Formats: sequence, C-alpha cells, structure tokens
Amino acid sequence: MPHQPYRIGLLGHGVVGSAFEALLDERKADIESATGRSPEIGGILTRSRGNFQEILERSDVIVEVMGGIEPAGTYALETLRAGKPLITANKQLLAARGSELLGLARKCEMPLRFEASVAGAVPIIRTLDGALGAAEISRVYGIVNGTTNFILSAMEDGKEYGEALVEAREAGYYGADGPTEDVSGKDAAAKMAILARLAFGVDATLDDVYADGIEELHPDDLQYARDFDMTLKLLGSATRENGRLALSVHPTFLPRTHPLAAITGPINAVTVEGEAFESITLSAPGAGGPPTASAVLGDLLAVMRGESYSLSKQATLPIVHDTTHAFYLHVEVADDPGTLSRIAGVLGDEGISIQSVLQRGLGETARLIFILHPTTRPHLQAALTTVGHLDVLRSSPRVIHVLG
Ligand code: HSE
Repeated sequence: MPHQPYRIGLLGHGVVGSAFEALLDERKADIESATGRSPEIGGILTRSRGNFQEILERSDVIVEVMGGIEPAGTYALETLRAGKPLITANKQLLAARGSELLGLARKCEMPLRFEASVAGAVPIIRTLDGALGAAEISRVYGIVNGTTNFILSAMEDGKEYGEALVEAREAGYYGADGPTEDVSGKDAAAKMAILARLAFGVDATLDDVYADGIEELHPDDLQYARDFDMTLKLLGSATRENGRLALSVHPTFLPRTHPLAAITGPINAVTVEGEAFESITLSAPGAGGPPTASAVLGDLLAVMRGESYSLSKQATLPIVHDTTHAFYLHVEVADDPGTLSRIAGVLGDEGISIQSVLQRGLGETARLIFILHPTTRPHLQAALTTVGHLDVLRSSPRVIHVLG
C-alpha cells in the first residue's frame, strides 16, 4: 500500500533549499519506513515564485531556509498560528526573536526545530536539549563560523588576510551578501545566543553577545603564537561564572593540544563542559548545502515522529560580556635599556601576572610578546592606558584572548 504523503512547504531554494530537496529524494525510503508517511515537497517559495498562504494551506510542515528576519519571521509566526510545525535554519531570526517564536510554539503546541541554525551538520541543539537537557552545564564554546575558520587556517599557512578572504569567496563560503556577518563575528554571535538559550535557559538575543571579529588581526601575531605552541580560532563562548553568564565571540589563542586546535578549514566544533560529564566536543562541516540540509532532514524526521524540544532550562542569569581571561599582548617598543622592565612594571602595578614573554629585536625597535595570566578587561585596559603614555612605545598594543 502506498504511504500517505507528508507535504513539505519549502521556503527558500538557494544552496540549502536545493540541497535539502536532493537529500530528501535520496533518503525518502528510510523516512517512509521509519514514519509510515512519504515526505514530498508540496510547494516552494522563492523571491520569484510561489504564494506563502497557498503553500501553508497545503503543507503538513514548513521548512524555512530563506534566511533574514523578514519576511521569514512573519511566515514563521503564521505557520505556528496555523497549527503547523516549523523547521528553520534561520539563526538571525532565532537570535532576534527566539522568545516570541518559542513562546508561540509552546502556546500552539507545535514543534519548532532549528538544528541547522547553528554549526551546520553538528547536532549540537539536540544534544543540549536532549542528552544534556538535565545536565548542569558550566560552559559552551567553540568554532561556530566556517568562513572565518577557513580564513584563519589560511593565514596560519602564511596568507595575508585579504588573500585568505578571496580564497574563501572562491571556495564559495560566502556569496552575494559578502563576508561582513562572518568576519565581524556577528554570525557567530547569533549562534552563541541560540546555544546559550539551550544550555542555560537564558533569554539571550544577538545584542547580548559581545562580538570581536577577525578583521584587525595581524598575520605576525599568528606567527608569534607558534613560538608559544598556540593556534588562533574565532571562539564563541557562553560561560557561567559567579552567578552570571558571560557571552562573547573573540579571536582566541588555544594550546595546540586542545581538541578545538585541530579544527581547520570550514569545519565547526562545539565543546560543552559540565562537572558530571566533564567535556563533550562535537565537530562537523558547519556551512554549505549538504551539511546544513542534513541537519534539516534530521529535524524533519523528528517532526514526523512528533518530537519537540523539551527546552527544560529556564533561568534569569544576568548576562555580561566578559569574564577573567588570559591574554596575549603585543607591543612594539624602542630597544632601549630598561624598556622591558618598565612595561612589566606597569602590568605588575595593575596586579597582572606575566606567564611568558618573548622579545624580538628589530634594530632600533623590539617586539615584546607577553602571555598574561588571567585578568579582567578593566585591569588590562588600565595597564594599557598607562603603557600608552610611555615614551618607549612605537605602535599601539595589540591584545588577543588566550583560552585559559
Ligand atoms: N556563514 C556561516 C559560516 C554559515 O561561514 O559558518 C551559515 O551559518
């Protein structure tokens, strides 16, 4: 007997939408045997074709892979209000209006799933909601933007930032919209807002996440880091500390022995830490058609089986931008007697302890690279203001986070 159809209204038919259509076709038989229904695309909405209301009426589920806050947001709300499940890959929408959408989904008792909104094929949302739904989590952090990880990997291989950016475009990691969201850290920040909601139950939005991008990085900082056996990644992190949640995205040096240090190219990886389970790291391709479509397909199967997220955590932790960090500090100074001790003295006066130091003589000037023990931004800022007034300084100090 033929399976009864399960009709999918597909909003968006770009890289992800077309990859989803192809993957659905390939995997259809297994979904049929798992659910007893036959999934099929019942309508496609693009900028130039389709009518949302007509597609909604004849669909059992809406899959939104069009991106952007509007009109996707209106379509998402109308889908839930019409009593239909929603699957979305839209990180901007969830990071901006997550509460409203999840609240409506709860009220309408409709599944709303969004695995593909964070880290492509990495099943981090279902892990946080399911396997770790009852766990006490202390920190979630990772590489959640493939474009910037590709660029940083190329810079570590000696490329200039501009060259690496062109390579990323040629490899198709960013398209017509340009790389601004990626390189500014905003794309990663949206994903961290979503992960913080799942891991800690906070109502975080994009504006709650402090984001530093990779545009200002100097290739020589990546080279110096080799001398300390470290590698540079754009890390998003959500850390519970002293009853607060620090949420941020920063370029961060990691020891080469850290599991995230091995993640190169357009791969994403997320580490979750908690006392009971210690540490879990998941990694997979974080962008592109098939990996993102794979996450959407998993959500489709879950919706067809009637599975919703439990969203078990609800908390009102105050969200802050920063916590204590170890730092890399680069200063270029006159190579005069006593310079090193003057800089070290300023740091010491602010209570900042030096873990390692490297000096490179360049003739009349020298570069000093310090790795500082954990301190707070205000302490470091105060020290840098004093350093800025020293007559031996020859260029602005550069500071990069170091994973402690
Ligand atoms: N532009 C993102 C990235 C993929 O490079 O990771 C979509 O979230």
